[in-house]
Amino acid sequence: MAKDTVTITDNSNGKSVEVPIIRGTHGPPVMDVRALYKETGMFTYDPGFLSTASCQSKITYIDGEKGILLYRGYPIEQLAAQSSFLEVCYLLWYGSLPTKDEFEEFSSMISHHTMVHEGLRDFFNGFRRDAHPMAVMVGVVGALSAFYHDSLDIHDARSREISAHRLIAKIPTIAAWAFRYSRGVPFPYPQNNLGYAENFLHMMFSYPSEEYNVNPVIAKAMDVIFILHAEHEQNASTSTVRLAGSSQANPFASVSAGIGALWGPAHGGANEAVIKMLKLIEDPKNINKFVDKAKDRNDPFRLMGFGHRVYKNYDPRAKIIRQSCLEVLKELKVNDPLFEIAMKLEEIALKDEYFIKKKLYPNVDFYSGIIQRAIGIPTSMFTVIFTIGRAIGWISQWQEMITEKVQKIGRPRQLYVGAKTRDYVPVNER
Ligand code: CMC
Repeated sequence: MAKDTVTITDNSNGKSVEVPIIRGTHGPPVMDVRALYKETGMFTYDPGFLSTASCQSKITYIDGEKGILLYRGYPIEQLAAQSSFLEVCYLLWYGSLPTKDEFEEFSSMISHHTMVHEGLRDFFNGFRRDAHPMAVMVGVVGALSAFYHDSLDIHDARSREISAHRLIAKIPTIAAWAFRYSRGVPFPYPQNNLGYAENFLHMMFSYPSEEYNVNPVIAKAMDVIFILHAEHEQNASTSTVRLAGSSQANPFASVSAGIGALWGPAHGGANEAVIKMLKLIEDPKNINKFVDKAKDRNDPFRLMGFGHRVYKNYDPRAKIIRQSCLEVLKELKVNDPLFEIAMKLEEIALKDEYFIKKKLYPNVDFYSGIIQRAIGIPTSMFTVIFTIGRAIGWISQWQEMITEKVQKIGRPRQLYVGAKTRDYVPVNER
């Protein structure tokens, strides 16, 4: 049998080292290069982590070529169709599906932690009304560590669990209040008798002056959106949470760092960017012009909601959200011209040689904005919705990292290409 190693030879001196190969449950094996620097004096160079597995994880598996996404081994299609977001939270955090009793206890725990400290409520008044809600999220979620420091002992399992419960329970309240603050309307308190998505919709749209009944179709669509965004292994925001957490920063501070990373248009901000792009296209007859712009190497324009670092096939989440979008638009009798543009754009791009060759398919963000528009969520809140869903993924990944046997601060190395050592020249001699 072949040895489970790869031999790397430095051709400048003929010296070889054996690099061990580690195999996981699914997916490509990895070369364990941890000892490489000690043995060869060389680092590996991989900007953007194109070929680097930054950790071992038992949480999520993606097969980008086949378009497969599993949470703890369960296919996303089955979870979206048969599970609920809260059950998915349990699954991601504890590693297995709950029994009926476990689920009841967990849901009750989450619904009884949805209120936030009144002092935190005052915190909102410090923001400008026109602040982007993601800016408010970065600040307020980080500030949870100033209000809930009784559960910040990262070495204590129960403290970590309490922090996770608090984060999952309170993040929809913070998100809805970020929106309410921007509109200058009263902050509603959470209602513990409502389901997770229902309660969020209630906090977004209800008024103290009138009764508000959540449409079950919208609540179900919202729940599916949260499920689809819950976890996605080592993406930019999750890696940020892990990196921040590796310094032993508290979980709320680490998650807040992740929220900042999610905000960018190449990551979670793409859903907002998709709507801006569809509005810019304005009419199906202009699509070809924008597709040409996306293909032009000298034009920075990209088709937002297309392409993915890992998926080289249709993103399985995009398939589910596209279907959900059709159902919601039908149920609510919404005729959104942007949906028509999106469907036509998808059709044209999927037949285009450039997109076929580069394996650029619609990703989760392509349709998520349209469905959220139909639900009545304003564009500036799209990435905030992503944040609510992803909070459980971040905290589960953080917990996995913090409970590893060997704790190592995340500290990449670099290839220095700057100036050689030189002597300081006083300003009047320069
Ligand atoms: N439109 C046009 N060309 C594209 C696009 C696009 N959306 N995406 C990638 N390409 C081209 C790119 O120009 C490059 O061409 P070349 O090889 O000639 O230089 C090639 O495809 C590979 O692209 P890349 O930027 O090297 O790939 P990446 O893995 O570094 O980037 C991505 C992945 C998602 C950042 C990128 O596809 C993109 O910018 N997409 C648009 C933004 C978007 O929809 N982001 C949401 C991602 S899914 C949700 C999430 O996880 O947050």
